[in-house]
Amino acid sequence: MPSLGVNIDHVATIRQARRTVEPDPVAAAVLAELAGADGITVHLREDRRHIQDRDLRILRQTVRTHLNLEMAATDEMVALALEIKPDYITLVPENRQEVTTEGGVDILSQQQRLKDLVQTLQGAEIPVSLFIDADQAQIEAAAQIEAQFIELHTGPYAEAQLGRPQAEALNHLHQACQGAISLGLRVNAGHGLTYWNVHPVACLAGMEELNIGHTIISRAVLVGLERAVREMKAAISGQLHRI
Ligand code: PXP
Repeated sequence: MPSLGVNIDHVATIRQARRTVEPDPVAAAVLAELAGADGITVHLREDRRHIQDRDLRILRQTVRTHLNLEMAATDEMVALALEIKPDYITLVPENRQEVTTEGGVDILSQQQRLKDLVQTLQGAEIPVSLFIDADQAQIEAAAQIEAQFIELHTGPYAEAQLGRPQAEALNHLHQACQGAISLGLRVNAGHGLTYWNVHPVACLAGMEELNIGHTIISRAVLVGLERAVREMKAAISGQLHRI
């Protein structure tokens, strides 16, 4: 079964709603790890709408599993990554107007720039993952620029109607996953995954890590973060029968 990267951005979203000090995403990361999270993921956005630089710096010292930094492919973020040295970084597209990340990175339109960026980061021993749509041309481009990982965008699967559309979206992810692995890429996935739709994605052969945020933090508000993380671990392995 793939590992679980818990995205704690929305703990910071609640804090930033009042620009105060609570709840602290650093405390959330500790609790998530105690409950079985295999990794902690944060997205430091250019507009700093949730996670702050301070969070990233402290998390680097306190996270005991691995720290995945989601970031835009900007000079500012590359400099910060080189300084903080997360365990890996995931490149995501960023648009100030969006509520959340809306689509994958278009590698094809900026191949040389991304290749240089991957070389810089991986040269500093920070593996790079690219959040991309399950699209063969993007997968081939990710392999060409020699990124170690891709993260397949599971949004279309998550949003597909139950039944045939969802089955087709899952098959699309399966093909993309196998195609990527055959090109030497390692494969993660995420976005829009929930307790109810995660298990089929977790069963895709070769899937390494699922990055999940919103559904876990939403449930944590009601039942506590440790229980929410434990339940997600169970959902990934198909052992959550009732929620
Ligand atoms: N993966 C990436 C690249 C993301 O941008 C996000 C959202 O920040 C996630 C995974 C997690 O998505 P969700 O919050 O819908 O679980």
